[in-house]
Amino acid sequence: MALRFEILGRFNRARASRLTLPHYVCQTPLFMPVGTQGTIKGLTNSQLEEIGCQIILGNTYHLELRPSSGLIDELGGLHKFMNWSRGLLTDSGGFQMVSLLHLADITEKGVTFQSPVDGKPMLLTPEESIQIQNRIGADIIMALDDVVGTTVTGPRIEAAMYRTLRWIDRCIEAHKRPNEQNLFGIVQGGLDPVLRDICVKGLVERNLPGYAIGGLSGGESKELFWRVVAQCTAALPEDKPRYVMGVGYPLDIVVCSALGADMYDCVYPTRTARFGTALIPEGVLKLKHKAMADDTRPIDPSCACMVCKTYTRAYIHCLVTKEAMGSQLVSYHNVYYMMKLSRDLHTSIVEQRFPLFVCDFLQKMFPKGD
Ligand code: GUN
Ligand code: ZN
Repeated sequence: MALRFEILGRFNRARASRLTLPHYVCQTPLFMPVGTQGTIKGLTNSQLEEIGCQIILGNTYHLELRPSSGLIDELGGLHKFMNWSRGLLTDSGGFQMVSLLHLADITEKGVTFQSPVDGKPMLLTPEESIQIQNRIGADIIMALDDVVGTTVTGPRIEAAMYRTLRWIDRCIEAHKRPNEQNLFGIVQGGLDPVLRDICVKGLVERNLPGYAIGGLSGGESKELFWRVVAQCTAALPEDKPRYVMGVGYPLDIVVCSALGADMYDCVYPTRTARFGTALIPEGVLKLKHKAMADDTRPIDPSCACMVCKTYTRAYIHCLVTKEAMGSQLVSYHNVYYMMKLSRDLHTSIVEQRFPLFVCDFLQKMFPKGD
């Protein structure tokens, strides 16, 4: 195991921890921005550090296509390649293929897909995913899982869950750097509590350094999504980090943290920034809206970020969707917002005022009580 997980405070099921990884000491609850190609779109490394990012996500599938894990390895690993000294996590690649390329097909061997480079059929096996992730060298690597959309029902969900369990053994066997990199297993099983339970038990038996809850960033209702998270966190070990994949929205992070989850990742803050939407305590602010054209306030008057201290809504309105700087400024603010939310969750749990923080958060977001 290449991590240490120390719980610093609890409030009911919520936890605040210190997560010590090979490259960085993190505090949870923790949001991880997604940098598909080894970069968070629109932000430099020094900006990410200034904002307080602790771990960023890379993508096995994208990095293997360009510049390739072989080259990254040759150049000393992804940390060195991108000159990022803090935490890195790579996802295994299967999910991206299924969600990005509708051409992907999953068999017992692995995920087959058509190469976007030359259209040739390619196969990503659990062994290969781990070998690639070993070459990339992230602090946390993810098992290859069989991902099915949450809108899919029936025997396919059950088959995918059992396959994910069979694949975890192939991943563990293939993992050659357990003292430098932490392999996390991913709980699948759709919205079925029986399947989720079998999957959690199966993974926990393997005594992995951490566990993720997958298969949830689809179109399911919040009610069902939160229920699955509540069930999985209750069944996962207390002394290991719990990561909800592909989540997300500030409200979901607050709810899942209350349910005992610790880590999150999502493209939402940076993607929505590129469409001119800023995250604020009241919800979202659409900077493209014509009402912004002469608004001289910052994006969020209560925000202490560089963008809010420097620029007006009117100025950003003028740049957004026209100049690259527009989406860069909104991305900066949005990632800052997520980092501040992570820190506030952590501190409020440690200082035993988590319920007050949650009330305050909800009151700002839903002032009319709706
Ligand atoms: N990202 C969001 N959801 C998932 C999932 O279920 N599996 C993997 N590997 N990545 C994800
Ligand atoms: Zn700001």
